[in-house]
Amino acid sequence: MFSASIDKQIKRAILAGLVTTAVAAVVFYFGRHPSLMDVGYRPQQPVPFDHAVHAGSLKIACVYCHTSVEKSAHSTVPPTSTCMNCHSIVKRESPKLRLVRESVEKNIAIPWVRIHRLPDYAFFNHSRHITAGIDCASCHGEVEKQGVVVQKKPLTMGWCLECHRNPEPFVIRTRAISGVDVRPEVLAKPVPKGPENCSTCHH
Ligand code: HEC
Ligand code: HEC
Ligand code: HEC
Ligand code: HEC
Ligand code: HEC
Repeated sequence: MFSASIDKQIKRAILAGLVTTAVAAVVFYFGRHPSLMDVGYRPQQPVPFDHAVHAGSLKIACVYCHTSVEKSAHSTVPPTSTCMNCHSIVKRESPKLRLVRESVEKNIAIPWVRIHRLPDYAFFNHSRHITAGIDCASCHGEVEKQGVVVQKKPLTMGWCLECHRNPEPFVIRTRAISGVDVRPEVLAKPVPKGPENCSTCHH
């Protein structure tokens, strides 16, 4: 029907269209929230803080530093005054702690790079999970063995719902190192299912 050269042009146009769609799909998929699916994400931090030393060897409980985790939606990273409880005595001259000392003297926070972050339209609440007897390790891995914190889970909606539908295989029960108080009657019962209705996570 078409001459050979027009036929070739049509094929080329179709091919170009397919490639563009494929590239757009890949960009959409991976570009929508950059670090969300980024299992293994471990940014360079301004101070070489080591969880394997502090929570691992020294056995400092998670809540000693992440104080708000039992009570609020967010788990805060500690202010440097918490560090100085020890570092005004231990390793007080260490060059690795220079920024910590400056932060306390000048009253400026250390710009820690955030590792786990959901998009704004999704709501997560730490305290509800912690008080249900779900250990940090269920979602963050064994942080006390990580020199640098690494994102261990994809933080996608599918990941949340997989556990909500059938929690038992995904939940690690509260461990001593987390330092949270969970009522014994909660731990004696099986983990309840989590919500699946859209509005609990999307207000
Ligand atoms: C001595 C204080 C201290 C203790 C104890 C501690 N942390 Fe941290 N944690 C920090 C600091 C400081 C940061 C920010 C720097 C970094 O990411 O390493 C942090 C970061 C994190 C992050 C990454 C936050 C983000 O940006 O997404 C997680 C998760 C975390 N801690 C979990 C834990 C768990 C679980 C424990 C107990 C096993 C624990 N931490 C014990 C001080 C502490
Ligand atoms: C309960 C006490 C305690 C607290 C609180 C604490 N540390 Fe430490 N930290 C230590 C001890 C002890 C060491 C030394 C470990 C070793 O070398 O065996 C240390 C080592 C370090 C080092 C390595 C220093 C060097 O010269 O090798 C850094 C960096 C550090 N801590 C950062 C922090 C930061 C940042 C915070 C606050 C978020 C913090 N620490 C909170 C006890 C503490
Ligand atoms: C059920 C899964 C789950 C459990 C259990 C859990 N976390 Fe998280 N954590 C998350 C998610 C999801 C985020 C990202 C939240 C966001 O961006 O709103 C996060 C973020 C964090 C952050 C960064 C600051 C923040 O709140 O956004 C810290 C620090 C942290 N978690 C520490 C802990 C500690 C310590 C424990 C245990 C006491 C714990 N988490 C238990 C899922 C969990
Ligand atoms: C390892 C299992 C697990 C994972 C992973 C998990 N959850 Fe949950 N979640 C639960 C359980 C169990 C409950 C019910 C707790 C209860 O009823 O006491 C719950 C409850 C909730 C609630 C109800 C809180 C309220 O105030 O009613 C919200 C919201 C929630 N989860 C959001 C999330 C989001 C968002 C994610 C993913 C980023 C997530 N969860 C990942 C186990 C999990
Ligand atoms: C347990 C918490 C939870 C529940 C329940 C939930 N979502 Fe989500 N949803 C999330 C989280 C976390 C994200 C962000 C991560 C992602 O995109 O996978 C998200 C992302 C989304 C997105 C954006 C996806 C994209 O590709 O960017 C849409 C749309 C959405 N949810 C719709 C819904 C609808 C509709 C329902 C009810 C049928 C629902 N969600 C129930 C947690 C939840």
